Amino acid sequence: MKEGEENMEPVKVGLLGLGTVGGGTINLLQENAEEIMRRAGRGIEVIHACARDLNKPRICDTEGISLSTDPNEVVDNPDVDVILELIGGEGMARDVMLRAIENGKHIVTANKALIAKHGNEIFAAAEARGVIVAFEAAVAGGIPIIKGLREGLAANRIEWLAGIINGTGNFILTEMRDEDRDFADVLAEAQRLGYAEADPTFDVEGIDAAHKLAIMASIAFGMPLKFDRVYTEGITHVTRDDVTFAEELGYRIKHLGIARRTWNGIELRVHPTLIPERQLIANVDGVMNAVVVKGNMVGPTLYYGAGAGAEPTASAVVADLIDVVRALSCAPESRVPHLGVHPHALADESILAMDEVETAYYLRMQVVDRPGVLADLTRTFADLEISIEAVVQKEPPPGESLVTIILLTRTVQERQMVKAMEMLGKMDAIFGDVTRIRLEYLQ
Ligand code: NDP
Ligand code: HSE
Repeated sequence: MKEGEENMEPVKVGLLGLGTVGGGTINLLQENAEEIMRRAGRGIEVIHACARDLNKPRICDTEGISLSTDPNEVVDNPDVDVILELIGGEGMARDVMLRAIENGKHIVTANKALIAKHGNEIFAAAEARGVIVAFEAAVAGGIPIIKGLREGLAANRIEWLAGIINGTGNFILTEMRDEDRDFADVLAEAQRLGYAEADPTFDVEGIDAAHKLAIMASIAFGMPLKFDRVYTEGITHVTRDDVTFAEELGYRIKHLGIARRTWNGIELRVHPTLIPERQLIANVDGVMNAVVVKGNMVGPTLYYGAGAGAEPTASAVVADLIDVVRALSCAPESRVPHLGVHPHALADESILAMDEVETAYYLRMQVVDRPGVLADLTRTFADLEISIEAVVQKEPPPGESLVTIILLTRTVQERQMVKAMEMLGKMDAIFGDVTRIRLEYLQ
């Protein structure tokens, strides 16, 4: 620290939200105050905060902080230099953020829904007003993946990235596999632990992961945010049987977000995925997240850490806050652009339609136990030029006549697999729905 800097006025912060992340942020700023001062070069003081219910018990101490129930009172406070937006949601949060920008405040947010859906508008407004909108905590909790992509890998052309980017979903899949627990029971625990979104369908239906993938892909490929082009599937249809069968075949089921540059366009997709168990990312369990990024020069790199929770997320929020404090004395043109490339250089890349994506598949079905059924199945696939990698037949429990068949295909275009699913649906030897989960080797 330069001589005299410790005597500068602390930077004044307005905090929107005193829940899991807001409370964790106050605690972190208090506990690590000295370390933060040494890194930021100035003290940081939360002077005004808001929450809906000021009588609710909190995980943090708010003594000495002015409290409001109206976020506008915080963003209109002339003494506030930086706003931390930790309310969540899109409607009110968008209005408040645009108002804060208009008031000339820098912003740090953990709100991936807001950035993924309204980021193009928000960044344009921030650039016009010369303020920073920092959003490290919006993707993969405490992992510094935004900084990694935007700065650490800035010299590379990114080829693809794939990540476990929803802590709640990974926690559910892990507990189903290791502890044989029920989906609903584990989800309730994730909510108690503060991992889940206010609306947990965002976690289990893949929407939260799609928000995060849209943000990472935009930085990786230097393009505007395209959340509405992300193909999205959640984990609700994954059963314990699928988890077990995948393990028997040497795979783990993970909910992955994948963004890949291909000759025909960019793939953007989130869905449950079988991954070979020898891959490091297949062994990322519980609330932990991990992202593999393949750059054309550096090769594959892996980022790992807690994907949700008060302290890990506060770690990312405060890292952004320190960056903002450091940048206060820099000219706006010398800052790192919001999406890594300068706004005029963003490329409007085309997004590959899902039916053109190529991947391998795991299929599970129940068939009548009679001669010729397996031959009919393999002929159907051969007619569609889909190669089969493996077929496993499970003996039925005593007294039952239906046999479970697990089938792994080689890589095929999604369009062909859709046709195959239609044909399987018409086969009278198949009982009930066919389960289809994509399979990636990540090589
Ligand atoms: P919480 O629900 O725990 O906290 C939200 C806070 O905002 C609460 O204090 C709530 O007040 C306050 N609030 C909500 N609406 C209003 C309003 N209209 N006016 C005033 N205050 C309001 O959410 P989280 O802390 O979990 O999440 C916050 C953000 O961080 C979200 O965008 C989330 O997606 C993101 N995030 C969360 C992570 C996590 O692990 N939880 C990880 C990474 C990102 P009150 O307490 O009185 O209800
Ligand atoms: N609900 C999110 C998750 C919080 O479980 O990953 C972190 O973004």
